[in-house]
Amino acid sequence: MNELPPALARVLIPADSIRVRIGEIADQLAGDYVEEGGLYLIGILKGAFIFLADLTRKLTVPHVVDFMALSSYGKTTTSSGAVRIMMDLREPIEGRHVLIVEDIVDSGHTLSYLYRILKGRKPASLRTCVLLKKERDSLDVPIHYLGFEIPDVWVVGYGLDFADSFRTLPYIAELKPEVHQQP
Ligand code: PRP
Repeated sequence: MNELPPALARVLIPADSIRVRIGEIADQLAGDYVEEGGLYLIGILKGAFIFLADLTRKLTVPHVVDFMALSSYGKTTTSSGAVRIMMDLREPIEGRHVLIVEDIVDSGHTLSYLYRILKGRKPASLRTCVLLKKERDSLDVPIHYLGFEIPDVWVVGYGLDFADSFRTLPYIAELKPEVHQQP
């Protein structure tokens, strides 16, 4: 393997493991949604774009793809976790089987907010599919499909960034603490 960029401490999840796990999740989704006649996938920008692109191409049940962009504030502090919709869906989701596709759940504020908002739009069903979840005592939102649980470190790659860098790495890696702790 090529040398890691100097800002990275180690590879946490290699590309091969991500590919295998996404295949497993796609198989599980195919089984769970075979009767439903179609699935509405919502990718959360920006981070989920690579995960969604790979998942959707493995998915054998009929589905359409849409996107939302959310902005959260003060995630590095003990903030209220306020979240705002920057870009909304193209279509109404009432009566549809909806799956939120998210790259990572950290504090859980983003997914929790989104779940509440989308539930209010009366989909036939609403589930969540998350590639990475940090080890937390509790979350107030259900995660129905999970790729990997990871330690509480800053991760980049496979869609995840630090200051918009590293998104296109094929693996998930830990960013060195001294990089993100710089004032
Ligand atoms: C990241 C990630 C999730 C959110 C998770 O998005 O994509 O949406 O943070 O954090 P939480 O569980 O603490 O709410 P970010 O705001 O970094 O935007 P990006 O995806 O556009 O990089």
